[in-house]
Amino acid sequence: MGAGCCPPWAPLVLLALGLLGRPAAAHRAPDPGFREGYFEQLLDHFNFESFGNKTFGQRFLLSDKFWQRGRGPIFFYTGNEGDIWAFANNSGFVVELAARQAALLVFAEHRYYGKSLPFGARSTQRGHTELLTVEQALADFAKLLQALRQDLGAQDAPAIAFGGSYGGMLSAYMRMKYPHLVAGALAASAPVLAVAGLGDSSQFFRAVTADFEGQGPRCVQAVRDAFREIRDLFLQGAYARVSRDFRTCQPLSGAKDLTQLYVFARNAFTVLAMMDYPYPTDFMGPLPAHPVKVGCERLLSENQRIAGLRELAGLVYNASGSEQCFDIYRLYHSCADPTGCGTGSDARAWDYQACTEINLTFDSNNVTDMFPALPFTEAQRRRYCLDTWGVWPRPDWLKTSFWGADLRAASNIIFSNGDLDPWAGGGVRSNLSASLVAITIRGGAHHLDLRASHADDPPSVVEARALEASLIQEWLRAARRAGR
Ligand SMILES: *[C@@H]1O[C@H](CO)[C@@H](O)[C@H](O)[C@H]1NC(C)=O
Ligand SMILES: *[C@@H]1O[C@H](CO)[C@@H](O)[C@H](O)[C@H]1NC(C)=O
Ligand SMILES: *[C@@H]1O[C@H](CO)[C@@H](O)[C@H](O)[C@H]1NC(C)=O
Ligand SMILES: *[C@@H]1O[C@H](CO)[C@@H](O)[C@H](O)[C@H]1NC(C)=O
Ligand SMILES: *[C@@H]1O[C@H](CO)[C@@H](O)[C@H](O)[C@H]1NC(C)=O
Ligand SMILES: *[C@@H]1O[C@H](CO)[C@@H](O)[C@H](O)[C@H]1NC(C)=O
Repeated sequence: MGAGCCPPWAPLVLLALGLLGRPAAAHRAPDPGFREGYFEQLLDHFNFESFGNKTFGQRFLLSDKFWQRGRGPIFFYTGNEGDIWAFANNSGFVVELAARQAALLVFAEHRYYGKSLPFGARSTQRGHTELLTVEQALADFAKLLQALRQDLGAQDAPAIAFGGSYGGMLSAYMRMKYPHLVAGALAASAPVLAVAGLGDSSQFFRAVTADFEGQGPRCVQAVRDAFREIRDLFLQGAYARVSRDFRTCQPLSGAKDLTQLYVFARNAFTVLAMMDYPYPTDFMGPLPAHPVKVGCERLLSENQRIAGLRELAGLVYNASGSEQCFDIYRLYHSCADPTGCGTGSDARAWDYQACTEINLTFDSNNVTDMFPALPFTEAQRRRYCLDTWGVWPRPDWLKTSFWGADLRAASNIIFSNGDLDPWAGGGVRSNLSASLVAITIRGGAHHLDLRASHADDPPSVVEARALEASLIQEWLRAARRAGR
């Protein structure tokens, strides 16, 4: 690596960042002072004809504040399905670790998300999504990492990949596909098994239900009662009652509206369960500490169950307090991911991924979970994806491309999961070898370990971070001994 000279874009990256000639920072501080850069990235890594050598601007965040040039490693966050700032802002542990281990910090945005749009604003419209695959995203990360190493004179610096959720899957895949580029990976809350079709379709909403059961039996019963009342009122044709009690903006009627109301409400529980952190956060939106507990309190504070359900949903959809009513079709878009895609351009990109490589055919059944039965079968997924994007899902492909459950040939990956996180059941929960380490965080929600240290952290996450830090240090030492 590093032979020959600079590709034409190299000085652009450096000038955009104002990095040339800056000395390494001497002291450690929590604010990394990220700067944005754009990397001229190849559009299509796997086809030599259609797009030739055409490129797009891939955004990344960079901080050399803690970096000891010549000694420090590179910490590379493999961005997931959204604006890269959202992940940088909510991964304080990576920053703290960079300060302690004198690392260069890079947060790379995933193509088709945030501002890394291969075809501008059209990118996530049907007909422009063909270059959105896991494989292309990983190749982007590999090319960017190589280019940064060369531009910054860090050819010998070992790198560690970091990521949470889908980003955690990508960090693990990065180690599996490009082990010569990253010495190890921290894959936090990465549902690598579920997305490869090795899960159980009722697992996710069963786990969401279990989180609410943790608040006592009354809460779950109240949820069941609320959904049953909605259903019964619909069967009686008392639509106006439901619209009024739930404060929907439009008058409801018929099966389509009932289903939309169900998925709209169910999604609030999903968000509260994933974001069940012990202190207030602002990740998928502003939430109080212990939002599952607060949600149950809100639900039970109303005498009327449908009003209680509305109050709980308001935690997620009315955090601003400015929604006079719930526009249930605007606030929640059904998509190929029943755990929610969000809204806007990022949501469309994720929907496409859930229609192609990523299998998320979870459903609720009103037996093993507290939600209405909302089946989402392979056939439904196929029909939806064909109608929406004109594509056929390939439910078996991730098993081939990223090994399914047979990870024995991999090394140096930490799979961490919180026992409150509904995604945990789709991840690697046992140690597979001396260097494929599974960590369970008791009292931890979705990738709590990636968040900055906090006075209200449970002891389990403090221990998990310490183990992660020491494994990473060990891998870095071994990489240096081997000449990276
Ligand atoms: C792309 O190819 C053209 C012509 O083949 C060449 O002039 C140009 O420099 C290339 N661009 C990049 C970014 O490699
Ligand atoms: C990230 O944090 C910065 C600084 O606090 C803030 O201005 C920005 O809006 C945040 N971005 C996202 C996407 O969370
Ligand atoms: C897709 O994933 C779900 C949930 O993990 C699983 O139940 C289903 O069997 C998978 N489908 C295929 C075709 O692998
Ligand atoms: C949203 O919150 C505000 C302030 O608490 C409240 O007045 C309003 O009714 C809420 N909207 C809904 C739909 O519940
Ligand atoms: C859930 O199942 C119970 C028991 O069979 C039933 O009474 C109730 O109506 C169901 N709830 C919904 C929303 O379908
Ligand atoms: C895996 O091994 C580590 C020690 O390397 C240990 O701390 C952890 O508890 C083990 N994980 C499981 C799920 O047994």
